[in-house]
Amino acid sequence: MTKILDGKKVSEQIFEKIKKEVAKLSKKPKLAVILVGDNPASQIYVNIKQKRAIELGFDSVDLKYPENITEQDLLTVIENLNNDKSVNAILVQLPLPKTINTAKVIEAIAPQKDVDGFHPENIGKLTVNQNPYVVACTARGILELLNYYNINVEGKNVVVIGRSNIVGTPVARLLQNKNATVTVCHSKTVNIKEHTLNADIVVCAIGQPKFLKEDMVKERAVIIDVGINRIDDNKASYTICGDTDFENLLSKASYITPVPKGVGPMTIAGLMQNTFDLYKLQNN
Ligand code: GUN
Repeated sequence: MTKILDGKKVSEQIFEKIKKEVAKLSKKPKLAVILVGDNPASQIYVNIKQKRAIELGFDSVDLKYPENITEQDLLTVIENLNNDKSVNAILVQLPLPKTINTAKVIEAIAPQKDVDGFHPENIGKLTVNQNPYVVACTARGILELLNYYNINVEGKNVVVIGRSNIVGTPVARLLQNKNATVTVCHSKTVNIKEHTLNADIVVCAIGQPKFLKEDMVKERAVIIDVGINRIDDNKASYTICGDTDFENLLSKASYITPVPKGVGPMTIAGLMQNTFDLYKLQNN
């Protein structure tokens, strides 16, 4: 029988644990969230992150700037947050407007406050398997979920579909550091199915609705769906679906994440854990 990996349940247990620990502290962990522009999806994600941070007892600073903020002004905002001892964690919601050099902005964040684990120092340490301050929230969330359900990755064939800096690349490195044999597929991979058919675990982060089909995976594979795609049924309503064909994969997989309530809440859990870890690091 296929087991649904319940990201909502697992994340709630993580939230409860953090909340209890934070309640004992006199000085609270503080997360600064920067949003530039009015991308509707980014606005929703940022609101979810801040609501959860406050619920756990964190302090949250909400910094919103118009689309036309200059790169220099944004860099100054980050520099001030780096120098502000009361701020433990800095998150710049991506994507940024095209006028701004994203790499430069990420590099401006102090690695010890880089809650997304996107800074080259943290990515570099992850790559050489030398304890980055934190690892990217979705990658951490996926590993936490696999760990909760006792799904061992050592020696397993894992295919990661997608090579973004946000998910695909960090999750692939993290799994490799846990001794999985990892293949990364992407938009230029010639025959993705050839790879996925050999996978014990597939992590799908390609950003295409229902991309991973039943005929692309082997029996009893573990399916991790990172996608959040909005399908407009008509002008008045929409549904959310992942990057995998959940309904048809359900009878074939051994474990599978639903969308919503799978990887999504685990990403938020990863962010809250990272914020708390950075706080502890800065306060011994
Ligand atoms: N945009 C989409 N996912 C993420 C994320 O995990 N962190 C940030 N900063 N931006 C994102």
